[in-house]
Amino acid sequence: MLLHIENVLDAATAARMRAQLDAATWTDGRETVGPQGAKVKRNQQLPDASPLRAQLGREVLSACARHMVFHAATLPVKVLPPRFNRYADGGHYGAHIDGAVMALADGSQLRSDIACTLFLAEPATYDGGELIVADTYGEHEVKLPAGDAIVYPASSLHRVEAVTRGARVAAFFWIQSLVRDEAQRRTLLQLDAAIRQLTARNADADAVKQLTGVYHNLLRGWSET
Ligand code: NI
Repeated sequence: MLLHIENVLDAATAARMRAQLDAATWTDGRETVGPQGAKVKRNQQLPDASPLRAQLGREVLSACARHMVFHAATLPVKVLPPRFNRYADGGHYGAHIDGAVMALADGSQLRSDIACTLFLAEPATYDGGELIVADTYGEHEVKLPAGDAIVYPASSLHRVEAVTRGARVAAFFWIQSLVRDEAQRRTLLQLDAAIRQLTARNADADAVKQLTGVYHNLLRGWSET
């Protein structure tokens, strides 16, 4: 399931982050991938040790945590601190699949269930840079307004098209979900959305309560920590 999540950051916050990133020093993005990724990756990243990366990363994660749809869609148990990348001057990232297991600073590991890209440049300011994600329905082209995010299964083959004008700047990170199975996550998200709609329409309170119970009992059965 590819899901476009709107307004993870408001326009002012996205613009302020973008200005901070425009003033930053970037390094070669190949430093954080294995040999297979290095062959196809041509972009820039904020250095892992950069204080700006840590600061903006924390802001991104707290915005995600406050966003009801983001939370309902991903049900995070562990999140890799966000990194920031920049594609310009023909920069691109050829087709690849992300690593399945990633190391966290506390020595534990994260299973990458979900990949997230949070766009920080307005689409009109650059040409190219589409994120192309393949799934069983074919290829999907993603280029979103600044402040919007896409979440998709980290098991998907994906690439970023060359940027031929301007610069594409984004945050990206991976999530280990409480619910490993993608179809189960989708079912929970649909149920959550239906409960919200029924609540907003003042539907029968006992029925809503029962459905909410079903949601939690499914989550209890499907979650792993
Ligand atoms: Ni990737």
